[in-house]
Amino acid sequence: MLVDATNDYTGPPSGPEGETSSEVVARRAPGARVLKAFNHLFAATLAADPRRPEGNRVLFVSGDDEEAKKAFTGLLTDLGFAPIDLGGLADGGRLHQVPSGPLLGQDLLRLTPAERQTRQ
Ligand SMILES: NC(=O)c1ccc[n+]([C@@H]2O[C@H](COP(=O)([O-])OP(=O)(O)OC[C@H]3O[C@@H](n4cnc5c(N)ncnc54)[C@H](OP(=O)(O)O)[C@@H]3O)[C@@H](O)[C@H]2O)c1
Repeated sequence: MLVDATNDYTGPPSGPEGETSSEVVARRAPGARVLKAFNHLFAATLAADPRRPEGNRVLFVSGDDEEAKKAFTGLLTDLGFAPIDLGGLADGGRLHQVPSGPLLGQDLLRLTPAERQTRQ
């Protein structure tokens, strides 16, 4: 399993049909089960405890290998994150890649049931 946490600021912005940066990584690592994750937040945020009183920090994951994604999201959950599967590298990867992925920089929490209750 290869988790691509990088952001490619060098290439031209890929349009809706262009190859995503993680597809490029996958093409260059034949045989690897490539996932994209960790790239959308700063390192200091990632290093902090993801378990907040109100809920757990959301991490986005995309990838074409469902088994690898399941194992990785399980690991993230064990670490206290709230993973969200965005789909494959082409569609999901585009949502959290530079420069224009709409999920970049979004530091979200998945609220605990109790917190949701108090906010209703
Ligand atoms: N820092 C963050 O908060 C953060 C968060 C999420 C994602 N990311 C992404 O993670 C990636 C790394 O970020 P970083 O902050 O760790 O950057 P960094 O501190 O600048 O480290 C980059 C590393 O890549 C190596 N490198 C650069 N060009 C290379 C090349 N052509 N061939 C081989 N190695 C090369 C550098 O080696 P040398 O030291 O020898 O130059 C260095 O070890 C980036 O794509 C960034 O967007 C960063």
